[in-house]
Amino acid sequence: MIIKPKVRGFVCVTAHPAGCAAHVDEWISYVKSNGSIPNGPRKVLVIGASTGYGLASRISAAFGSGAATLGVFFERPSEEGRTATPGWYNSIGFTKAARAEGLYAKNINGDAFSDEIKAQALETIRRDIGQVDLVVYSLASPRRTHPRTGTVHKSVLKPVGSAYTNKTVDTDKGIVSSVTIEPANEHEIADTVAVMGGEDWELWMNALSGARLLAPGARSVAYSYIGPELTWAIYKNGTIGLAKNDLERAAGSIDSMLKAIGGGKAFISVNKALVTQASSAIPVVPLYISILYKIMKANGTHEGCIEQMQRLFARQMYAATGPSFDESGRVRLDNLEMRPEVQASVARIWPDVTTENLAALTDIAGYRGEFLKLFGFGMPGIDYGAEAEPHVPMA
Ligand code: NAI
Repeated sequence: MIIKPKVRGFVCVTAHPAGCAAHVDEWISYVKSNGSIPNGPRKVLVIGASTGYGLASRISAAFGSGAATLGVFFERPSEEGRTATPGWYNSIGFTKAARAEGLYAKNINGDAFSDEIKAQALETIRRDIGQVDLVVYSLASPRRTHPRTGTVHKSVLKPVGSAYTNKTVDTDKGIVSSVTIEPANEHEIADTVAVMGGEDWELWMNALSGARLLAPGARSVAYSYIGPELTWAIYKNGTIGLAKNDLERAAGSIDSMLKAIGGGKAFISVNKALVTQASSAIPVVPLYISILYKIMKANGTHEGCIEQMQRLFARQMYAATGPSFDESGRVRLDNLEMRPEVQASVARIWPDVTTENLAALTDIAGYRGEFLKLFGFGMPGIDYGAEAEPHVPMA
């Protein structure tokens, strides 16, 4: 089958197997070119390991410090006439590359929110690697079936309190328009917290601890975002921000538990806004990212997922001096994004952007390129006109 990108709004419904593998290889090369991470993690569980920040974390652990990795994710395999999702191909690419270097790499594809997948992961750790010294929690999901009640919670990206109107961009069509998003009701707020908050992270950590699968001094990290005031109504102060507050609450309770059982640590890393499948679904944010990329590329401070995660591992989590925390105990990988001069430039450009000047005032071309790369398109060295085999078994 000849596989071309088919973009539908903020998703691409096709993915290219060889292109995804090449994208993973690019990230692996970046980590290798930065040298090994002394005292890095050795045995790592990554929950949400197939794309975005989770995949970048897995690659940083495996190729930065030779870690054994167990990846949990929820991806769709190929079906008749339909490619698999990119995380499927990414995970195969990663696993082949890791095993080629003698590194342990196993995958569990299924619903991380379920008891069944947790039990499978625990059994795999016990059987294969004994214990883990790092757990990365990097899920981004639109829904969660609660393992105790069976209720299906759906997360929404809405403001809280009052309606929010701002500019947004249709990244596919290049049309800038005004969008008004009505505020979430109490039910939607609670649902979003149930999906993207910290309860599931705590369930994972308690299950691992209860089964004595956490090595002494084990660490855990989950990811959050704050961003500039421009996006606060839809992010920091919106439904997702309330869920992230709950994730921070969970970091506190997991931290106490890890300290008590062996001097470990749990914390939140506040990451940079980047093009991922999750972020492209948020109104307003893709336009902000397009402007941000333009400014950060021009001043030489731009980073993608892999640069951020390599920095988290090498210069924060496993640095000789240990991580540096902000006043709320979070690692701030968004420090370059939040520099006052960067944000002043975003604020200056923001009111002027229109459909007509989108290409000149923003890095919409870079945004689109990055977006297509998430699905394995636009990679150098891949012949996109050639027949490709979409059916690839999970490694
Ligand atoms: P992503 O969409 O690239 O990755 C999500 C991962 O979760 C994938 O591996 C997917 O398979 C997995 N997943 C989703 N539902 C699952 C389920 N039910 N069971 C098992 N696995 C499941 O997302 P991204 O952007 O890397 O987000 C990861 C974390 O980073 C999220 O907490 C997000 O809020 C946070 N973050 C993202 C930023 C961004 O700009 N993209 C910025 C700062 C934080």
